[in-house]
Amino acid sequence: MNPLRAVKGMNDVLPGESARWQSVEAAFARTMALHAFREVRTPYVEPTALFVRTIGEATDVVEKEMYSFVHHDEPLTLRPEGTAGAARAYVEHAVHNKEPVSRWYYMGPMFRAERPQRGRYRQFSQAGAEIFGDPGPLCDAEMIDMLVGFFRSIGVADTRVEINSLGARGAREKYREDLVAYLTPRAGSLSEESRRRLTTNPLRILDSKDPRDVETVRAAPTIRDALEPADVDHFDGLCRGLDALGTPYEVKPRLVRGLDYYSRTLFEIKGATDKLGAGDTLVGGGRYDRMIEELGGPSVPAIGFAAGLERLLIASDATPEAAAAHVFVAPMGAAAAAMALVLAKEIRRAGFACEVDGRGASLKAMLRRASGLGARLAMIVGDAEVEEGCVQLKDLSAQSQEKVSRDRVVAYVADKLGQKVLS
Ligand code: HAM
Repeated sequence: MNPLRAVKGMNDVLPGESARWQSVEAAFARTMALHAFREVRTPYVEPTALFVRTIGEATDVVEKEMYSFVHHDEPLTLRPEGTAGAARAYVEHAVHNKEPVSRWYYMGPMFRAERPQRGRYRQFSQAGAEIFGDPGPLCDAEMIDMLVGFFRSIGVADTRVEINSLGARGAREKYREDLVAYLTPRAGSLSEESRRRLTTNPLRILDSKDPRDVETVRAAPTIRDALEPADVDHFDGLCRGLDALGTPYEVKPRLVRGLDYYSRTLFEIKGATDKLGAGDTLVGGGRYDRMIEELGGPSVPAIGFAAGLERLLIASDATPEAAAAHVFVAPMGAAAAAMALVLAKEIRRAGFACEVDGRGASLKAMLRRASGLGARLAMIVGDAEVEEGCVQLKDLSAQSQEKVSRDRVVAYVADKLGQKVLS
C-alpha cells in the first residue's frame, strides 16, 4: 500500500517547530494588544460569491487559485484571505451601529492553489488586521510603522516599505483608460497572458514578472497623473505621517496588488531577500474604502494588511526561550507510580510543567529521556522512597541529587526553578 502523505503545498508543523510559531504568534498578539486591536475569528469556509465580488473575477486568486466546491447546491470556498470574511462579518453584525471605529486582527490558515515553492504554499497562515471607520491617512502611517516595529521585535530588521496610491474610483478608471491607450498599440510585445489582461484587468500587467511585459510597461504612464487632488492630499498625509514617525519608505508609482478591492493607500513590506528570494513580500495591505458598501453595508472606509507567517518564520532569527521549567518524574514500581502521579499534580498546580514516565522503563532509560527533553529536574521515586515519605530530586544540569520529604517537594521545585509556566 502507498503511504498516505500530506496534500502538496500543505505542511505539518511538528512540535519541534511549533515553539517558533508560538513565539511569533505571541509577539503579533502583543503588538496588536498594544495598538488596541481585538481579535476576530471568522469561518474558514465562506460563500464563493463573497470572494468573487470583493477580490474580483479577473484576478489570479479568483480565476485559478480558489478551492471551491458545491455542497448541497451551495457554492462554497476555503478562504484564500481574511479581509473579505472580516468585512462580511462587519456588515452582517451591523458593527458600525455599535462603534464608530473597529480595530480587528486575526491569525489563521488561508488556502490558495498556487504552485508551491519556498515561502509559497497552498495552505499558509496569515496574521492580519483591519481598521473599519477611519478614513486615514494618519492611521495608514501608524499601521505601516507598527508593522516595521513588529518585524524588528521578531528579529527581521532589514525591511523595505513600498507605498503607492491607487486613488479613489474616478482616478482608477481614468488610469485604466490611459494604460489601455498606451498598451494597445504595443500589445504585440506583451506576453500572451498580459494581452488577455488588456481587456480583463489591465492594471495587473504592471505586476507581471515576464521580461517582455516589464520592458513594455517601462515608459507607461503611472497612476500619479490620474490622481484627483483629494487623493494627492491623502497620499501626502501618509508620507508626512511616515516622516514624522521616522519610518523610511519608497514611493513605487507602479505598485499594484493582486486583489481588486484596493483604493488609495497601497503598501508592501519586503525583507530577508537573501532567504526568501523573489517571494520576499512579507506583508501586503492597503485601503478598501468601498468594500463595506459593496457588501450591503453603509459607506465605511477601511484599511488592513496581512503578513504570511511562514515567510516571517523564514525571515526571523528569533529563537524562542528555552523550554520552560520542567520536572521529569521517574517512578520505579507500582506504589511509586501512584505517589508520583499525585506529586506531579501538585507540582503542576503550582505552575510548573511536569511529565511522568509511565513506561515502566529502567532508571537509566528514564533519565536519558529527561535529558533529551531538556528537563531541569528529575524526580526519582522508588519503593524505598514511598516507604520513607520522600523523593530524590536530581538537578540535571548540576548533576547533584538531594533527598526531599514529600511535603517539601513543591517548595523545593519552586525554589530551584523559579520561573513558572503558569503564574
Ligand atoms: P496578499 O498580498 O494576497 O494580501 O497576501 C498577504 C501576504 O500573505 C503576502 O504578502 C504573503 O506574505 C502571504 N501569502 C500570500 N499568499 C501566500 C502563499 N501562497 N503562501 C505563503 N504566503 C502567502 C491579502 O491577503 C490581503 N487580505 C491583505 C489585506 C488585508 N489587505 C487589506 N487588508
